[in-house]
Amino acid sequence: MLKSMQKNGLRLSMFALACTGLIVATDYSTHEVIVAQQQSMQQQILGKMLPADSYDNALANDCRLLTTPYLGNAKPHPVYIARKGNTVSGYIVESVAPDGYSGSIRLLTGVNVSGEVQRVEVLEHHETPGLGDKIDRNKGNWLDSFTHKKLQNETDSSWAVKKDGGQFDSFTGATITPRAIVKQLKNVLLLVQHPELIEQAPACKAE
Ligand SMILES: Cc1cc2nc3c(=O)[nH]c(=O)nc-3n(C[C@H](O)[C@H](O)[C@H](O)COP(=O)(O)O)c2cc1C
Repeated sequence: MLKSMQKNGLRLSMFALACTGLIVATDYSTHEVIVAQQQSMQQQILGKMLPADSYDNALANDCRLLTTPYLGNAKPHPVYIARKGNTVSGYIVESVAPDGYSGSIRLLTGVNVSGEVQRVEVLEHHETPGLGDKIDRNKGNWLDSFTHKKLQNETDSSWAVKKDGGQFDSFTGATITPRAIVKQLKNVLLLVQHPELIEQAPACKAE
């Protein structure tokens, strides 16, 4: 009886060990593939944010990690610097709109060095389907209403949704979501008026 229990115990341990080994081996072999896929997705999205002829550097490698209230919360966010012939031509800014209806909305904003928005992408949101989710590119082209728009000055009252006297449409019965994005994009545009904050920030990783 005791011998049989010992035998089964040993078999079970061997099986557990083999499974663990298999998991570790699988994780090891897929890690590089996952990293390569993430890098390729990052490059794809960064490549859409500014006109292709406006920069000649590798955006993903020219990245600063900024911690500033301009980016919506107290966490560090990457800001990518676009350069043409070593002259800064624009920025791609990751930030969050903290006051969406269902929490934070992660944004990516391409801005040229004159402070003109080139493209906005929503990276992540939890807004309500049919109400706040019109910010999603799969649901409409509302994000394009920011393209080529600039902030005239810090108190520019037109940088607001129409319901608040500004220029941007909101959605019927769902003003909270667009208001949150409009407000955060204003902060991004205010940030790029301080290029020294970006240049002085630490690199995202070893360049
Ligand atoms: C279940 C539920 C989900 C809602 N989801 C959203 C949303 O995702 N985004 C939003 O702006 N408003 C949402 N609203 C509406 C807001 O509570 C609020 O009434 C609205 O944003 C105000 O916009 P209005 O001034 O145009 O009416 C939701 C309301 C309910 C009851």
